[in-house]
Amino acid sequence: MRGSGPLDGQLRIGGAKNSALKLMAASLLAEGTTSLVNVPDITDVAIMTELLEAMGVEIRRTGQRVDINVPNEIDPIAPYSLVERMRASIVVLGPLLARIGRARVAMPGGDDFGSRPIDMHLQGLEQLGATFSHEHGDINGRADRLIGSEVFLEFPSVGATENLLMASVLAEGVTIIENAAREPEITDLANFLSEMGGRIEGAGTSRLRIEGVDKLSPVNYTVIPDRVEAATYLSALAVCGGQLHLEGARVDHMEMLLRKFEEMGMILKEDDSGLQAKVVDRLTAADVSTLPYPGLATDYKPFLVAALTVSDGAGMVTENIFAGRFRYIDELVRMGAEIRAEGRHAVVRGVRRLSGAPVRAHDIRAGAALVVAGLAADGETAISHAHHVDRGYEDLAGKLSSVGAQVTRT
Ligand code: UD1
Repeated sequence: MRGSGPLDGQLRIGGAKNSALKLMAASLLAEGTTSLVNVPDITDVAIMTELLEAMGVEIRRTGQRVDINVPNEIDPIAPYSLVERMRASIVVLGPLLARIGRARVAMPGGDDFGSRPIDMHLQGLEQLGATFSHEHGDINGRADRLIGSEVFLEFPSVGATENLLMASVLAEGVTIIENAAREPEITDLANFLSEMGGRIEGAGTSRLRIEGVDKLSPVNYTVIPDRVEAATYLSALAVCGGQLHLEGARVDHMEMLLRKFEEMGMILKEDDSGLQAKVVDRLTAADVSTLPYPGLATDYKPFLVAALTVSDGAGMVTENIFAGRFRYIDELVRMGAEIRAEGRHAVVRGVRRLSGAPVRAHDIRAGAALVVAGLAADGETAISHAHHVDRGYEDLAGKLSSVGAQVTRT
C-alpha cells in the first residue's frame, strides 16, 4: 500500500469474528439446523467450519448466512492440525461436554501474544463435574452430567466465561459465574443461548446466573457487528484524515475507544445507521491502557499505536491483558516510528510521516495495524504473511480502497 488520504465514503461493518466463532461452537448444543446471519467470510470462520465438519456437522454458507446442521451423533474431537491454526477452537470444549459428555481437544500452544494458558477453562469445567486427563498433547474431558456450581474466575477471561456459559446451560441446577467477562461478544452468546431456550441472567455484568435446562433448540440469529473492524477503519481515518460513515457500527459496544479517539481530536457522531467520523487536523497523542471490557480492548491497541505513530506529541501505552503483545512494534520502527517498548509499556512519540518499508504481519490485528501504518507512510509498504489479516477481515484492502486508500492484496 501507499501513503493515502484523505479518506471519504461509507464502510459497512461486518459480523463480529469473536462472536461468530463462539455462536458456531454453541450450535453444537442443539440437534438440528441453526442459521447464523451476518457471519463474516474470513479464514477463522472457515477453520471453525472445518472443525465442526470434522465432528460430523453439515455447514452451508449462502452469502453472509451460515446454516449449521448438527446431527444427533457428534464425533467430539478437535485435532491439533486445526487447534494449532486457531486457538479459539478451544471453545468447543464446553458445548461438547454439556451435550455428549465427552471431548478430546488438542491443547493449544503459545502464540504471538505470548503464553496463553487455559487453566481457568479447565478448572471452571471441573467445578461443574468434568474430569480431564492429558495425553499426547490432547485434553481428554469427560462428564456424565454436568452439575451447576459457583465458579469464581481469577481474571474475567473471555474464553473461559464462554466455555462455562456454554457448558452450564445444559448442566443440572444453577451455575453462578463470578468475575465473568462482560465483552459484548459474551452478551451476544448469552442472547443466542437464551433464544435456544437457555436460562441466563446477568449477561453483560460480572455475575452470570445460569439455570440448566434439559434441551436446547436450534434458532435463527444475527451476529453483532465487529467492533474491532470498526476500530481498524477509525485508525485508518486517524492517520489519513477525511470522513467516514461506518454503517452498522455499534457505538454502545465501543464507548472507551470512541472517547479515546475524541480525546485525540476525532469528531464523532452517532446516527440512525451507525457512526460518522471526521478528522480535520493531525490528531494529538494520548495515553492508552488496555483492560477487560468496558475498558479499552487489547484488540484495539495495535490500531491506537498505529494512530499514535503520526500524532502530535507522545503517548504511553500499557498492555494489561497479554504480556507479549508488542511484537509488531519492531515492524513499525522499521517504518520510522519512534517507539520505545519495555515489558508491558511502550512510549510512542509521533513523527510527521512514516516511511514505507517491507514489514511482516505477526497476527490478525497487528497485520491490519501495519496496513494502517502503511497509509501514513511515504512510498510503498509491503506486508508479508498477510494471510494473518485474512483470518479476521473480509477484503480489508478492497474496503479501504473503496474510500480512497491505496491498498492492494497480491
Ligand atoms: C479473546 C479474544 C481476543 C481478545 C481477548 C481479550 C477471541 C477468539 N479472542 O481471547 O481477541 O484479545 O479475548 O479481550 O474471542 N488466561 C489465563 N488462563 C485462562 C484463560 C486466560 O491465564 O484459562 C489469561 C490470558 O493469558 C490473558 C488473559 O487471561 O492474559 C485474558 O485472556 P482471555 O480473556 O481468556 O482471552 P481469549 O478468550 O483467549
